[in-house]
Amino acid sequence: MAPKTSPKAPAIKHFLDLDRFEPATLREMIEWGKDFKRGQAPGGEARPFVGKALAMVFERPSTRTRVSFERAIRQLGGDAIVLETQGSHLGRGETVADTARVLSRYVDAIMIRTTDEAKLLEMAEHATVPVINGLTDRTHPCQLMADIMTFEEHRGAIENRVVTWSGDGNNMAASWIHAAVRFGFELRLACPEPLNPPADLLDWAREQNGRVLVTQDVEAAVEGADCVVTDTWVSMGDETGDSQQRHDLLRPYRVDDRLMARAKPDAIFMHCLPAHRGDEVTASVIDGPRSVVWDEAENRLHAQKGILYWCLS
Ligand code: CP
Ligand code: NVA
Repeated sequence: MAPKTSPKAPAIKHFLDLDRFEPATLREMIEWGKDFKRGQAPGGEARPFVGKALAMVFERPSTRTRVSFERAIRQLGGDAIVLETQGSHLGRGETVADTARVLSRYVDAIMIRTTDEAKLLEMAEHATVPVINGLTDRTHPCQLMADIMTFEEHRGAIENRVVTWSGDGNNMAASWIHAAVRFGFELRLACPEPLNPPADLLDWAREQNGRVLVTQDVEAAVEGADCVVTDTWVSMGDETGDSQQRHDLLRPYRVDDRLMARAKPDAIFMHCLPAHRGDEVTASVIDGPRSVVWDEAENRLHAQKGILYWCLS
């Protein structure tokens, strides 16, 4: 008699990081995001999340992630509940694992923002519903989905194009590395050496045959780029370090008009926001004609609808 096989439980559809996905799956989510933006729900159902709820756990502040996720699920018929550390038992020592188990009994998906990646992974390990990475100290994949969508709206397919990152090799830089490999574009990271992206990420990109270059020569890195990107010099959680030293290291990487002039004439400027005019970018660039930062912020809403649709359907 054939041995009895128990049916395998379907894998929970977590959205943790871009490197965990096949390019085709990420592309599908982006295309769904574009459909939602056009008002054409994939599958034809205008409110696919009726009866569904998303819990959003914030251990760090947020403007865009909080509002765009809440609007995304509500516009599609669902509900959102926000938990902040202070105001929930997470702030009094209840474990992330127990929080994951409990929230899974109430909601259909959990988004978490934490500056300790281990907590995201703990949440995913113990939740029985999809967990979405809403930023950790290491990565920010939801932002990258919006960024790819924004690039393509302005400049067409990102495959084989050149993106230059100038500044801190932080969580955003890390997700750009994942994206470069998964979406097939060239990424040049100009960073001061002490603030280079983590070596294991660069090793991963190399193993995957990604076109990812790290340099301290920012001017050469921007030469002929289709897109120039930067981010804050002091990420959440980095506030305790030597701020003066960080600023001194990063000043040569400020994105100004002189630097933008080295990129392609039609190159765009991107920044995930919040921005610090006069630090990582001049007002003339971020408020100038090549900046697409407001579209980028808006696209968080649409791209996350695509992510939610993948997680919940
Ligand atoms: N870009 C971004 O994630 O912004 P918030 O910190 O405001 O969510
Ligand atoms: N690198 C920034 C991104 C903010 C959205 C931070 O982690 O604070």
